[in-house]
Amino acid sequence: METIAPETRADFAELARTIAALTEGEDDSVALMATLASELHHADSRFDWTGFYRVVAPEMMKIGPYQGGHGCLVIPFARGVCGAAAREGRVQIVDDVDAFPGHIACSSSTRSEIVLPVWDQAGALIGVLDIDSNQPAAFDEADAEGLAAILAQVFGRL
Ligand code: SME
Repeated sequence: METIAPETRADFAELARTIAALTEGEDDSVALMATLASELHHADSRFDWTGFYRVVAPEMMKIGPYQGGHGCLVIPFARGVCGAAAREGRVQIVDDVDAFPGHIACSSSTRSEIVLPVWDQAGALIGVLDIDSNQPAAFDEADAEGLAAILAQVFGRL
């Protein structure tokens, strides 16, 4: 008999405390990205792909640590939801990826997405956090606020 995984929802305040404890004193961005991708991904049943794209050259990103199926390797600022978040420097909440011009489909099962820019202490863009869901319209402003606070807490000290 098939077991249905229970619906779990991230408690962002609780997650922020857990992540602060796990990453205390760490300043390597890849180590921090790997830890966040794992903690976030396993905290919420809406999150089917959770990962980072890192700025590696002007207007160019490459994949960083992630959880889930295959992730595209390279994303220029000119393309996709990730590119829009990097280019505009603001959160992208996409209820229906098929309706987003230029969406990059790394997985055919993705229905909705949230992408947040990641800034360091000097205000430089170091990458984006991308979370995909197989559910339509899975993300809202509360998710954006909770995730943005965690990113500022962790990467705002670099
Ligand atoms: N869908 C993203 C690309 C990355 S995958 O979702 C992992 C985009 O449109 O930028």
